[in-house]
Amino acid sequence: MAFPANRLRRLRRTETLRALVRETRLTPESLVYPLFICPGTGIRKEVRSMPGVFNLSVDEAVKEVRETRKLGVLSVILFGLPEKKDEVATGAWAEDGIVQKAARAIKSEVRDMVVMGDVCLCEYMSHGHCGIVKAGPQSLGAAAAAPPATTEFEIVNDASLELLARTSVSLARAGVDIIAPSDMMDGRVGAIRGALDQAGFENTPILSYAAKFASGFYGPFREAADSAPQFGDRRSYQMDPANLREAMLEIELDIEEGADMIMVKPAMPYLDVIAAARDRFDLPLAAYQVSGEYAMIEAAARNQWIDRERVMMESLLCIRRAGASIILTYYAKEAAKLLA
Ligand code: PBG
Repeated sequence: MAFPANRLRRLRRTETLRALVRETRLTPESLVYPLFICPGTGIRKEVRSMPGVFNLSVDEAVKEVRETRKLGVLSVILFGLPEKKDEVATGAWAEDGIVQKAARAIKSEVRDMVVMGDVCLCEYMSHGHCGIVKAGPQSLGAAAAAPPATTEFEIVNDASLELLARTSVSLARAGVDIIAPSDMMDGRVGAIRGALDQAGFENTPILSYAAKFASGFYGPFREAADSAPQFGDRRSYQMDPANLREAMLEIELDIEEGADMIMVKPAMPYLDVIAAARDRFDLPLAAYQVSGEYAMIEAAARNQWIDRERVMMESLLCIRRAGASIILTYYAKEAAKLLA
């Protein structure tokens, strides 16, 4: 049957009709709020490239978590800005590391908050890479114009696994509920699972940043977390934005290694990857609306080029429609307010 018998506009006539037939809904419980924890007390420092996002000292983070929980958001993911950086990422796995401190404080003040710990080394390494750096000639096809120091290095995979596993166990000890590795070393989910089990954390789930692309959209985050690589880039470990089939392989391997949940990152430019992952895998699927996605909306809204709230909610809804059941977003708190 076709027009005039069919008129799809009949069900679009009023907001109540539209609500009745709506296929996708956002809920505060499915949002995860990222927090950047810094040393000190009483600190709430806005990130220049991410208006509305702050570096928070532990005490301020606890306040933020309380407010977030009241709005119906059940989880936060923690990133740390350590006091000192070195070549073995001591701040990432230290007993009194910044995220460990924050996790302890949050779990003792807001018990039912799900605390996720981002596991990566870049924020804690003096060179800003996500693994151990070894100098050496690996510069196949490196730009001839680049100075040698920037091309002749390698991110060592297997040795980095030990530090990632150590970090994960240390976070679990501090009360982190979900371990979320974002480093993109091969074999890290298996290494982390093994280490957690051995330390008695066999019930601690792993949310793997399984398909994480080498993206320009992480720019503002690197300012927020002070984690920009001091030389080179992340293309030898994060994925090529051109590759969808490889993303499926990454996810499959992480599931084999013991991932409990999987993630695609960034979100909006990679909706096809989210949809393909949803189609193919049955684990809970998360997507990360990253710093650049947030910053672009904020910048356009400041210029009054877009309606900020409308675009914020539409971007989240569409990420969900593509198939993400969980969304990590800097809008978690604000979106929850609007959903109330
Ligand atoms: C750590 C990490 C990054 C992000 C999450 N975890 C940065 C990166 O890989 O450079 C990006 C998040 C965002 O941009 O909001 N490796």
